[in-house]
Order: sequence, then structure tokens, then C-alpha cells
Amino acid sequence: MTDVGRHPRIKVYTLSEVAEVKGQVGNFDVRIVKKARFVKEDECTACGECSRVCPVVRPDEFNVGLSSRRAIFIPFPQAVPSSYILNMHECLGHNPSVCAKCFDACEKGCIDFHMSDEEFIENVGSIVVATGMEPYDPTELDEYGYTRFDNVLTSLEFERLVNAGGPSKGELIRPTDGKRPKTVGFIQCVGSRSSLKGASYCSNICCMNTVKSTLVLKEHYSDIEIKVFYIDIRAFGKGFEDLFIRSRKLGTHYIRGLPGTVDELDDKSLRVVVENTATEKIEFHDLDMLVLAVGLKPASSTQKIQEMLGLQLTSDGFFLEAHPKLQPVDAATRGVFYAGCAEGPKDIKESVTQASAAAARAIRLMHKGEITAEPITSFVIEDHCKACGKCAEVCPYNAITVNVKKKTPAVVNTAACAGCGTCAAECRFGAIVMNHFTDEQILVQVDALLEDDPEEKILTFACNWCSYAGADYAGVSRIQYPSNVRLIRTMCSGRVDERFIWESFLKRAPVVLVSGCHIGDCHYIDANHWTVKRINKVRKKMDKIGIRPERLRLEWISAAEGIRFAEIMYEMEQLRKTVSDQEIKETVKILKKQKGLL
Ligand code: FES
Repeated sequence: MTDVGRHPRIKVYTLSEVAEVKGQVGNFDVRIVKKARFVKEDECTACGECSRVCPVVRPDEFNVGLSSRRAIFIPFPQAVPSSYILNMHECLGHNPSVCAKCFDACEKGCIDFHMSDEEFIENVGSIVVATGMEPYDPTELDEYGYTRFDNVLTSLEFERLVNAGGPSKGELIRPTDGKRPKTVGFIQCVGSRSSLKGASYCSNICCMNTVKSTLVLKEHYSDIEIKVFYIDIRAFGKGFEDLFIRSRKLGTHYIRGLPGTVDELDDKSLRVVVENTATEKIEFHDLDMLVLAVGLKPASSTQKIQEMLGLQLTSDGFFLEAHPKLQPVDAATRGVFYAGCAEGPKDIKESVTQASAAAARAIRLMHKGEITAEPITSFVIEDHCKACGKCAEVCPYNAITVNVKKKTPAVVNTAACAGCGTCAAECRFGAIVMNHFTDEQILVQVDALLEDDPEEKILTFACNWCSYAGADYAGVSRIQYPSNVRLIRTMCSGRVDERFIWESFLKRAPVVLVSGCHIGDCHYIDANHWTVKRINKVRKKMDKIGIRPERLRLEWISAAEGIRFAEIMYEMEQLRKTVSDQEIKETVKILKKQKGLL
């Protein structure tokens, strides 16, 4: 951290908040609000005189409340910049001077009660989102007694307690009596892998953090008794299994089963009741101290940043990468990358690896000094544009601007356009053309695929990233599916224009399938929400004009769902068999009369 603070080409803004981000890859304008610290950071020598005279005592956040600090303080020993900060909400006041002891104590005159927040804009080419995570608060798990019993700690509190720079200088002591505990228990998966309270995902780090803690304890206090209550130990990383074996060899007792209740005894020790699922017996364990291995949850700022940068979240609330295997550190928004737990729970090694990868990706993008835009972008035919604003409304990247009041034609920012094609599909005036996926190019494919025996075909529009990849996966996995399936690839299901569907039925397609990524997984943020709306609209119209709406289906198939792809194709084949030649003829007749649709 100190190296980063001293690096001539790295600017560190502490106590600052990103208020707004505008622009696109290569040219982001980031509005930053730098909060007032009320101490001149360039002049403060961190002598500590101010803190020594400050009468306000508050819990120290860095030591998770296990020690105290003053209203003027250094957040933690290696903080950058190494300068004091005054929490004005805790200060006893200065106007007119009520306390101002720190002001008087500071010989260098670094304290400035009239400092105010500053706001400025930084222009950057790429952004790395490294917003971290937050530990789960186990208070809601009443059965474990956290906050009810003082000797029940979270793993983070325990970490500070045994840290040499912590409140007890690394001495393990019980909060209630300050004595060294003889028996310590750890409960795993607190707030993780639970469908009832906390999160359903595995927090990734808790097992090995506990194994490490048992080794530290055994190293310092060889006579200490340690019990770990677990569901299963996930020691999957390099060298992790060896650490686990070492911990067992040193005498740590691993008990398979999570405790049902924790009670406090008269001497403030704790009685844990657990069903040992290995022996199928109920066991009682008396412990001097209990540590809850709490899971990780997304940082509270995640949603705000997601909205600001137009990013996607997983169902767990972490940021979603553009592709789990091929672009694991990229966001779907070009020029934005992820590092660390912002993208999901991970340990230090994984975080460092991902941060290095994100930095390399950003450098690779920026080092030339210019960006090569992707060719798959849309452009506007100005003469056709009625400036209705629909394209701008549906664009997930805010890449289109239209002045609806002045009726000036839409303008596409090709640097920001990611090429989903939703704008082209939604434009009623044919004013937007999607390069490489133009209406003409797609309609020619419809014609070609339905040229011979169209009534035998299952016409499928598949999005490049999921459904098309799912079909590929089915192929390479040798999964059988009907041979009459015909695929048309679009970058996103959002590109499937209503017109393509009508043309398909007009060309005697018995059934049409539109398929894309699952909701929430669309590679163009939320473009497939527009697919849903559009398909529902088309189905309603089909019903109204006398075409069976079931003949048009919308399905979500991910890249890994080769089996699902095959299953859906068999269902489509069953559906196709229900469509008679007569029904197809009727459809063609109806559509020929509905000129407005085509
Ligand atoms: Fe697959 Fe949008 S990319 S539905």
C-alpha cells in the first residue's frame, strides 16, 4: 500500500467517493467527491499529539470494536496517506470553539475545521472495479448467541485478536475475563451455504481461514484444545490439503455437523450442542471461546456502482463477468474490469491473480493510445430516423443519443456500442442498421433455410453467447437432437426483429424458436428483457390475427446446457408435428393480408 501511495504514476484518492461516471471505453469522465478530512494531509507528520488530547473515545473500526480510538485518528497503522483524520460527526465542536484541544496541540497547524468536500473530474480510459466484500453479520443466527454471549466472536474479530498489531498484541484472551482460553471452537459456514439465513453460495475462504487459525493457535499454545464444527472442509487450492492434514495431526478435532444451539454457562464458557453426522450422536462440547467462521457478502456499494457503470450482477449480488471462462475479469461494458471479491468471494492469492489480470487487460486496451472499435456496431440512416427515441431507450449501454424535442436524428457512439442489435430490432422505421447482422443478411438466411421442405424445419434464432454455444456444446458432446433444426445466429436474442418472425412464418416455417441467455446472464446487460417484451407482443398479435401463438417459443439456454438444448429441440419437434400443411397454408394467407407486419 505504501508503494502504491509513493508511486509517481498512481494517484490514490482516499476518503473519496465516485459520484458519477460518464463516457465510454477510452474516455470515461469520473466525478469524484473527496470528503474533507479536516487535517492537511500534506503537512501532517502523524506525530499523534492531536489524538493524545482528544477527549472523545469511540470503538476502533479497524479492530472491529475490540479497541478504541479518538475522534481524530489514523484509521490503521499502514494507512495511506499517513495522516490523521478528524471525524467531524464525533468531534465535540469548534464553532465557536467548544473543545478544539487538537487544534491547540498541533504545532504545525495542520487542523482546519473549515475544510470542505472537494469535487473534481478525472478522465480515464478504463476502470477496474475492486470494491471488495463485507463480512456476514451473524446476529440474525440467534442460536449461535453472537452479541448475546461475549465469548462468541466472528472470525474477523478473532483475526484482530491474534494479530500482533491487534488490541491484545497477539495474545489470545477471552473478552469476558482477559484469560487465555483452554478450549476454542470454530463453527464453519456461518452465513454461507444456507437456504434459510445468509447466502446459499460457498464463501470460498472460510475453511482455509479456520485451518490457518488452528495452526496459528497450535503454534503458539500447543496445549490448547481446538474443535471445528463443519459440513465438509473445502481444501481445494495448492497446498491446502497439506495444511488441513497438518492441522489434524497437531490435534485439532474436526466434528462433522453444525451446532443447533449454543448456551452460556455460569463461568461464561459456552456449551455447544451438535449432532455429529459421522457418528449420528448428539454431542455436548464445553468451550471457553467460540469463533464463527462468517461468510462474505457483496459490498454495500455494489448496486450503486452497477447502476453507474451499467454492469450486471449475479443472483448472489456480485458483479457478473463477461464470460466465466474466456473473459473472467472483463465486464460486459467495454473498458471495465473486475478485481478481487467484487466479482465473487475469493482468497488473497486469487484476488492478486485477478488484479494482475485486470491490470494487464486494462494496459492491453490502453497502451496504443487509441481504441480499435468492434466492427459489430449499429449506425443510423438519418433520412429514415423520426427521432422517436426508442433506440436510445432500449440501448443497454446508453450509446445512442436522440434529441426528441428538436427531432434531430439519433447518433450512435460506436465506441460505446457493444453490438447487441436491440436498437435495430426495436426501430419501427428501419432507420438503424446493425453491421454484420443487417436485416437483409438475416432475412436471406431465413429464405435459404426455408427454401426446401420448410414445413419439415425447426427454425431457431440463437444468441451467439449462450444458445448458439449451447448448440455447439451439444454437438461436441455428441448429444443427439433432431436433424431438422436450422440455426440463425444473432449476437443477442435482442436482435431478433419482429419482422424476422413474420417472414419465417410467411416462408412456411411451422415453428419458430427464439433462444438466448438466461435472464440476468445476457451479455449485453439486460437486452434480453426486450426480447421477452417483443416475443410477448408478437404472440398477442398472432393470437389476434388467427395464428397459434404456441408456434413461436422463447427459451433460455446457456452455453453449458447442451442437454437442455437437445431436450428443447425434441419438444420443438413434437410441436412441429402438430402443425399441419393446412395450418401453414392458412398462416401464409393471413400474413399476406397483414401487409403492415412485414
Ligand atoms: Fe444472449 Fe443477450 S447475449 S440473450
